[in-house]
Amino acid sequence: MHTYEARTFDLPVLDGISEKSVEEHLGLYTGYVKNFNAIAAKLIEYAADTEKNAHALSELIRRKSFEFDGMRLHEYYFEQFEGGPTPLTAGSALERQLKKEYHEYFKEYFAAIGGIRGPGWAILYWDAAAKEFQTGFVGEQHQGLFAALPIVLALDVWEHAFLLDYGAQGKGKYVDAFFKNLNWSVVEKRFDEAAA
Ligand SMILES: [Fe+2]
Repeated sequence: MHTYEARTFDLPVLDGISEKSVEEHLGLYTGYVKNFNAIAAKLIEYAADTEKNAHALSELIRRKSFEFDGMRLHEYYFEQFEGGPTPLTAGSALERQLKKEYHEYFKEYFAAIGGIRGPGWAILYWDAAAKEFQTGFVGEQHQGLFAALPIVLALDVWEHAFLLDYGAQGKGKYVDAFFKNLNWSVVEKRFDEAAA
């Protein structure tokens, strides 16, 4: 069984997202990694006698993807801040495709998806079959993911991401801060790989 290790991120001081908030958020991320490893180990035990362990097995199997997606999405999230704020490159493949599909309103549209009530994630995916983006809202972190589509941009809009800095009503300000700190070159690289 593979044991996942929590990644470390080389994060600059963020503008509008406090170090305390980032520290607590990273702690939550580490929790997902630990929980995933613990569940995966437990499931190996349960798999030996599925009849005896039927109830525990069904609960843990559901929890497993919750913990995994919590782990993986936070990795997409935090690495987007590494290297510091970097604007979208004019004329890059990502910039041209965003403009083609969303004209000038991508940020507003994506922020509106992030503004959907309830814990979750706004996610931009690339669908190579259609040569189009998909944008979606993932409830918590596992309900509504687009199967197999590579993730280009991931915005965490759980309250834990903004409560400390902006309060319960502060999601909009937090989303502004998210974009302010975003390293678009990370997002461009993901898009180039997905669209290659
Ligand atoms: Fe989070």
